[in-house]
Amino acid sequence: MALKQRIQELLSEVDRFKADSQEEIEALRIKYLSKKGDISVLFDEFRTIAKEDKREVGQLLNQLKAAAQERIETLRQSIDSKPVDAQTTDLTRTADPIGLGTRHPLSLVRQEIIDIFSRIGFSVAEGPEIEDDEHVFTLLNFPPEHPARDMQDTFFVSRDPNRVARDVLLRTHTSSVQTRVMLSQQPPIRILSPGRVYRNEAISARAHCFFHQVEGLYIDRNVSFADLRQTLLYFAKEMFGEDTQIRLRPSYFPFTEPSAEMDISCNICGGSGCGFCKHTGWVEILGCGMVDPNVLEACGIDSKEYTGYAFGMGVERITNLKYRVKDLRMFSENDVRFLRQFESC
Ligand code: DAH
Repeated sequence: MALKQRIQELLSEVDRFKADSQEEIEALRIKYLSKKGDISVLFDEFRTIAKEDKREVGQLLNQLKAAAQERIETLRQSIDSKPVDAQTTDLTRTADPIGLGTRHPLSLVRQEIIDIFSRIGFSVAEGPEIEDDEHVFTLLNFPPEHPARDMQDTFFVSRDPNRVARDVLLRTHTSSVQTRVMLSQQPPIRILSPGRVYRNEAISARAHCFFHQVEGLYIDRNVSFADLRQTLLYFAKEMFGEDTQIRLRPSYFPFTEPSAEMDISCNICGGSGCGFCKHTGWVEILGCGMVDPNVLEACGIDSKEYTGYAFGMGVERITNLKYRVKDLRMFSENDVRFLRQFESC
């Protein structure tokens, strides 16, 4: 039968397929496998043959089609993996320029804060972002009914309604690192804890569900509020310039007593009043205070022998003051047009 013979001829032809380039492979594919190709034509013919031959010829025809496809694929792969041809490739040609990345503004500012405090003896201590209630709240003197312990404010990973297992949550502040360090070492302690924190907030230009903080802690004999003030004044001048002034306003945090919030003289208008400082001449940059004796005791430090101060600041806030980034969301959008502006910083 002519059709059967033709299929067999083509089958042996398939084995002899040769090609040196992708173009030649494509030509083979068109000749044999395209809609009007040799094998497709045989399929058309197949429809007209006698019923009793269909089974045998059909199988042979399918075998041919599969063999051709496989051979073409093998050729294609062998060409893809061939070494580059030195004749057609100019290896001396200058490479395409690779766009260099830049450091993220938040990383720049975090590093600057660390540098300033390391000059006066602080070293970096880090802790986990997935924390438990104990380290984030309980040891830091948060009362059981404090709103931060509510789902509205904090992302919980797991909660035990029977209060047997510890609640696991995303840390809401880097003050949690204080407790870990105090539990594991005795004073003198002088640490700085940078890191990411999470709060259950609707995302807007002024709030985000994650942001960054740097926490400071100093515990030793005879540490006073005057030491805290002097350290923060040094920081403000290093960060925002020699003319910067600070003021401390009484405030409340469960883990410090007394507590304060620190403002710096507005570095945009120089203190004369502008839209940024709401015409007050001052902008708030951090919270601070003397570590509450309850916290020291809970973490195994003798509060009669030791005193300490702590402070915590938002890296986004400091970055805003330095670079005037108005929308917090810009920090996590990875828009290179925004990030490139920090190339020379
Ligand atoms: N943890 C506080 C917050 O997230 C910031 C803070 C305030 C840290 C006072 C401190 C401190 O160490 O003493 O808002």
